[in-house]
Amino acid sequence: MIKLKDIEDFGFLTVEVDKDIDLVAEIKKMCTDKNAVIMGHYYQTGDIQDIAHFIGDSLALAQEAAKTTADIILFSGVHFMAETAKILCPEKKVLLPDMKAGCSLADSCPPEEFKKFRELYPERTVISYVNTTAEIKALTDIICTSSNALQIVNSLPENEKIIFAPDRNLGNYIKSQTERDIIIWDGACHVHEEFSLERILEIKKDNPDAKIIAHPECQKPVLLVSDFIGSTAALLKYVQNDKENKYIVATESGILHQMIKACPDKTFIAAPPKDSTCGCNDCNFMKLNTIEKIYKALKYEQPELLMDEDIRKKAEIPIRKMLQISFKLGL
Ligand code: 13P
Ligand code: SF4
Repeated sequence: MIKLKDIEDFGFLTVEVDKDIDLVAEIKKMCTDKNAVIMGHYYQTGDIQDIAHFIGDSLALAQEAAKTTADIILFSGVHFMAETAKILCPEKKVLLPDMKAGCSLADSCPPEEFKKFRELYPERTVISYVNTTAEIKALTDIICTSSNALQIVNSLPENEKIIFAPDRNLGNYIKSQTERDIIIWDGACHVHEEFSLERILEIKKDNPDAKIIAHPECQKPVLLVSDFIGSTAALLKYVQNDKENKYIVATESGILHQMIKACPDKTFIAAPPKDSTCGCNDCNFMKLNTIEKIYKALKYEQPELLMDEDIRKKAEIPIRKMLQISFKLGL
């Protein structure tokens, strides 16, 4: 039974809470009473993944948010994901357990600079990764995720020139897979940039039977030695269908929880970062969410994600385009 450990870090509210309550049972009860749904990304801790009503990668979460009938969406992920849910469901209450759960990739694309960059190339179609702020989405023609980026690019007429933002690694990977004319914003995710090729190859030397699988946000040298490259959902599907038994996984370590659950007899090794004091690679933003914070967020219906309606309306257009293209392509 998980119990409430403290009440001091709630920030906006100080309350007396019975410390002997069963948090998971209370969360489940509140979800039923309030018609709330918990959506969680694969990079959440295992205990959160296990209580979420829906877990998935960025594409699946956006698709699910677009069709949920819940009154409250508690988004256990990072700010841009909760924002995407709010953009798609403006009438619903969207809660993010910790408003400090940001994203280094989204931060690497400031709206004012991106606006100027876009103005340099007015003839180009802007495809932005979902890992962006609502302001960037409002400056975008079509959103994509790592699950559908290549298909979104290829869905455009062959002579259409493209700006891809903000992830340089995903952008360069997509560029290597297509003949399209693409220029790329120079942003990156601190987690995926940190994987150490040297340490991955050392592990591979000790485990020659292990396959290396990587998220396309990783740097090119890591992608070049990988046996398979894909979004978190694609990596999970791959290990389930592949006949090998051991994998070195180069993405945030939260996904290992689902891999172990789906394939209990297989071995998964988290690819190590360059900093050798740490054995895994966690996104410090994703890991800000905890069961305690989810409990408090549901109980007090705070912190609530609110946004400017003008930005929301503009940001909704490219997200809906992505959902339409993905639907047509069966993604
Ligand atoms: P996907 O969910 O598209 O695999 O992206 C991974 C990621 O970095 C989410 O923050
Ligand atoms: Fe952002 Fe990277 Fe964390 Fe994903 S893993 S939320 S891209 S910082």
